[in-house]
Amino acid sequence: MAEAKRLYVRAYGCQMNVYDAERMADALAPEGWTSVDAPEDADLVLLNTCHIREKAAEKVYSELGRLKRIADARKADGGRMMVGVAGCVAQAEGAEIARRQPLVDLVVGPQAYHRLPDLVARAEAGARGLVETEFPAEDKFDHIGRGPKARRGPAAFLTVQEGCDKFCAFCVVPYTRGAEVSRPVAKVLAEARDLVSRGVVEIMLLGQNVNAYHGEGPDGRPWSLARLIEALAGIEGLARIRYTTSHPNDMTDDLIAAHAEIPQLMPYLHLPVQSGSDRVLKAMNRRHTAADYLRVIEKVRAARPDIALSGDFIVGFPGETEAEFEATLALAADVGYAHAFSFKYSPRPGTPAADAPGQIAEAVMAERLARLQERLADDQAAFNAAIVGRETDVLFEKPGREPGQLGGRTPWLQAAHAEADPALLGRVARVRVVGAGRNSLSVQVI
Ligand code: SAH
Ligand code: SF4
Ligand code: F3S
Repeated sequence: MAEAKRLYVRAYGCQMNVYDAERMADALAPEGWTSVDAPEDADLVLLNTCHIREKAAEKVYSELGRLKRIADARKADGGRMMVGVAGCVAQAEGAEIARRQPLVDLVVGPQAYHRLPDLVARAEAGARGLVETEFPAEDKFDHIGRGPKARRGPAAFLTVQEGCDKFCAFCVVPYTRGAEVSRPVAKVLAEARDLVSRGVVEIMLLGQNVNAYHGEGPDGRPWSLARLIEALAGIEGLARIRYTTSHPNDMTDDLIAAHAEIPQLMPYLHLPVQSGSDRVLKAMNRRHTAADYLRVIEKVRAARPDIALSGDFIVGFPGETEAEFEATLALAADVGYAHAFSFKYSPRPGTPAADAPGQIAEAVMAERLARLQERLADDQAAFNAAIVGRETDVLFEKPGREPGQLGGRTPWLQAAHAEADPALLGRVARVRVVGAGRNSLSVQVI
């Protein structure tokens, strides 16, 4: 028998990178690669990287430095560790990565993962400097994930749409993930059924602009995300459906209505707004105003009054004044987010905003970010506190922090933990909420 080949894949960045990392492991399994939990134990290490902010991209190089020491020690023992860089840094920097860190054997962009088994075989045979960052015409999803599938928890990701045509002035995603593409309905349904047959009860549909989904339906016509969700809701055993990330301009009436009509569709919406200032939104090329965004929120709340709203914010976009930042604070206060992500603007090479005048000083951005995050943290704590004493459902996904505990999620995506029978793992249980902190709830199974 051939010697076991050990693979370690690490994902950075967004959920799609986690999903893709699982697909890479699935694609390499038929070639004899089995997953291990640490780079020290691996013959091949793949870093699935993120380029969204400078810090995210730089993480890759510090990790490569660490891997270099492991690889050198291995070499001294007469062994070999191969290293591959995948994901958005791979797409953005290509061959430059191997120039900066010669340890790297192969570089592969997000649209070329089906080429991975071949690239790895060539690297094993001694090829150096392999770079694959084309956007091939074929559908990578037709070629990866055919082999034995990795074990999964009860909640799984499923990519339905990839890429972005929106070109927000600050963002690298349209360059690293390419143009917007939707997977056909039949393929999404087949993958969802397969997941459910292996114990998955919750599916998070993924896309950089997931609500712009327009995959080909069985009738040969483009289906909206709402129609896709309706079809998924017909799969027996699929208790929960979620989707992320959405753009305000694609929040169509049928999708909003789905939140009222489809019980499996969870009451949670991640809808990034970035700024509350119309001038900044325009400069960001967001193509909507603060009022447009608030109107969407109002409609969503009319359809599903208990919905948990989440968002993304950028502070310190070039030219942002104190008054414009205060408009962002006001918008956040107006919405009352259950949860949100906020970032300091990070200039990304090749994006229009990187060269824009009026770059904001680091200290100013830090101060604005702290004020916004204080507001968002208070609202998150208030959202969590409001549910204390009530009954709800939790999908238990994993062992909890303490022995005898299980951890899971409420319909509103709040983390929850409870003393619970391990038999409840992978099941939706009825609970009473007995306590709330900013980041999680304590619940009792009833
Ligand atoms: N629609 C995408 C958004 C990806 S980026 C999705 O599928 O998730 C996630 C968030 O990162 C954005 O909403 C934005 O708030 C933030 N972001 C993107 N580019 C950034 C930059 N250059 N600097 C700071 N934050 C950025
Ligand atoms: Fe980036 Fe804007 Fe596209 Fe989101 S919509 S991925 S922020 S360009
Ligand atoms: Fe990062 Fe690429 Fe996702 S830049 S956020 S890994 S799409």
